[in-house]
Amino acid sequence: MIGRDHIPVLLEEALNLLDAARPGLYVDGTLGLAGHSREILKRNSKARLVGFDKDEAALAEAQRRLSPYENRIELYQADFRRILEVDIDWPGVRGVLLDLGMSSFQLDDPLRGFSHSLDGPLDMRMDRRQHLDAARILDKYPEPKLAEIFRNYGELRPAAKLARAIASRRRMTKIESTVQLREIVEDVCRWIPQKGKIHPAAKVFQALRIEVNEELAGLGDFLDAVIDRLPADGRLAVISFHSLEDRVVKHTFARAARPEQNGGRGAAVIDLLTKHPVIPTDEEISRNSRSRSAKLRAVRKHSHGT
Ligand SMILES: C[S@@+](CC[C@H](N)C(=O)[O-])C[C@H]1O[C@@H](n2cnc3c(N)ncnc32)[C@H](O)[C@@H]1O
Repeated sequence: MIGRDHIPVLLEEALNLLDAARPGLYVDGTLGLAGHSREILKRNSKARLVGFDKDEAALAEAQRRLSPYENRIELYQADFRRILEVDIDWPGVRGVLLDLGMSSFQLDDPLRGFSHSLDGPLDMRMDRRQHLDAARILDKYPEPKLAEIFRNYGELRPAAKLARAIASRRRMTKIESTVQLREIVEDVCRWIPQKGKIHPAAKVFQALRIEVNEELAGLGDFLDAVIDRLPADGRLAVISFHSLEDRVVKHTFARAARPEQNGGRGAAVIDLLTKHPVIPTDEEISRNSRSRSAKLRAVRKHSHGT
């Protein structure tokens, strides 16, 4: 069974911040294996759920896991950024959750190409209906654009050098597998494995994944749109896994919480429920090492902000 031992990240913390025991509608923008959603529906018989995932396989699995609650759910294979195209009963929404990035079952499937430690095609698409995949980026993007992606999305120091190595390699052969790319990175970074040191390919794979799935594009606008539509006391909680995403979340929330910098929209519309991001305990990290880099931030709509 897919992800049988799946452990949702920061589960109790997220549910507490969403105050998910209240009756009403909850929106999960990133269903994955439905870890968070299932707990909301299981613990709260008066909760209804609208869920999104752009990955067909994730959605099918979420549907299966949420089947005991099928009369209280509505699921869509769609990008959460298309939320406004869906007819949602916004006045009834109590909480919106985003648990960004990829899920463990995507990472663990070699055929998806997300992991540099598994041999597979350089795919990395969450939505496999889209044309652009990682191999195509490596094949088609001009060298300076590749360098920019590695620098901006991977915070990789030898970004230009890696882009040059890729441009020179692709003149001879197509770079189509995760192992080919990992070996180029190891060569450029003169990688020698050391305990506790993160493999440089992790940064390169992160950068490509962000570009393939346009992970940062429109995230701030999405958060603004949700904040705008949330009714009084509606909550929005976001779990992010890298600093680029967390920065967008932090700045968007901070702006909406400050009346004078709220884009001329007047009074502050939200309270920050997390002054500092909530991070996993050592105990959670030891149970689930993938929670290591998670950061959770949440806000609550003002009662006079609607
Ligand atoms: C970290 S997992 C969510 C895990 C889930 N909370 C759980 O506990 O099972 C993220 C999921 O969001 C999906 N995803 C990422 N970005 C998305 C987007 N922009 N729109 C819709 N789904 C997205 C991925 O396909 C993946 O399945």
